[in-house]
Amino acid sequence: MASNRKVMVLPGDGIGTEVMQANMKIIDWLAKHRSLDFDLSEGLVGGASYDAHGTPLTDEVLADCVASDAVLFGAVGGPQYDNLAFDLKPERGLLTLRKEMDLFANLRPALVFPALVDASTLKREVVSGLDIMILRELCGGSYFAEPRGIDDLGDGIRKGYDTNAYTTPEIERIGRVGIDLARKRHGRLTSVEKANVMHSGVLWREVMTELHAAEGNGIELSHMYADNCAMQLVRSPKQFDVIVTDNLFGDLLSDCAAMLTGSLGMLPSASLGEQDPDTGLPKAMYEPVHGSAPDIAGQDLANPLAQFMSFSMMLRYSFDQAAEADLLDQAVNDALSKKRTGDIMAAGCEQTGTDGMTAAVIDALDHLAR
Ligand code: IPM
Ligand code: MG
Repeated sequence: MASNRKVMVLPGDGIGTEVMQANMKIIDWLAKHRSLDFDLSEGLVGGASYDAHGTPLTDEVLADCVASDAVLFGAVGGPQYDNLAFDLKPERGLLTLRKEMDLFANLRPALVFPALVDASTLKREVVSGLDIMILRELCGGSYFAEPRGIDDLGDGIRKGYDTNAYTTPEIERIGRVGIDLARKRHGRLTSVEKANVMHSGVLWREVMTELHAAEGNGIELSHMYADNCAMQLVRSPKQFDVIVTDNLFGDLLSDCAAMLTGSLGMLPSASLGEQDPDTGLPKAMYEPVHGSAPDIAGQDLANPLAQFMSFSMMLRYSFDQAAEADLLDQAVNDALSKKRTGDIMAAGCEQTGTDGMTAAVIDALDHLAR
């Protein structure tokens, strides 16, 4: 059936290809049982694209992504690419997509499923019921700001440098998303920087404060230094509702938050841009926070749940299918009570692989749809 939901699928490398294959089974289920169709195209990215075309992202695939309503992304990278030039590394494909599509708002929800409270390395009472949202700025700061590079200073000395620069509009637009998210959740926004040592942090705090005064009616804004935030995330993570922070701090803090949920294999993400004036949809890419995990790739060991939940975020944020997104999230939760991949294995559960976990989610969907 023809569909006006144009989705570009980029499995990438390593376990990215496996969890994406698993995701296709969920898509098939929705087509069959919910008449929810997608116009799917598939492309290469990362190491797979480098192997085929000598670049981690071709202009054609980038153009297809820009022309789609949403991009569903797996993972990129692998040790065989470690010695490639900076611009040819698999990660560059991902970063180019983020930058070229201007996906500045990266939503990383860390949610502890009841079934998984004991999978976390933290005590049950610290993580049980946890539901926080890390909002990471994704197009600026030390990932992209100029100047950056490695210079030869002569006498055998070289200098490598990146710049953590943010302009007021860049801070404002991510701050606005933060306020909006806090409004839809529990009304609390924590803005995270290092205003004690960084000029970019001083400006970040100033702009957030002004924006909040102008547009944050009813939202409680607080400020926190990034190092303290890392500590608070493992000490008492339930104090947070929405955390808004820059690109680099967001990268670090979201890995930290992932482990509260039990495994990096449980954290989905949505990367959103401005609304397209024609479709009314935000430019969007959905990807699990985990990487390509080359050490377990190809062995039917990968946890596909972060990929499924990223797809669920796509249903919610790009296609306004909240009921289907809720259904899938519920099925993920239900499946966890029966089967577990190795990363979240617990006593009394049956250990399974990517295929088995996928089958358990499909089973749960069947059950819920009855
Ligand atoms: C992430 C990843 C990426 C990043 C890598 C793969 C480039 O760690 O999405 O958190 O650093 O942003
Ligand atoms: Mg990361």
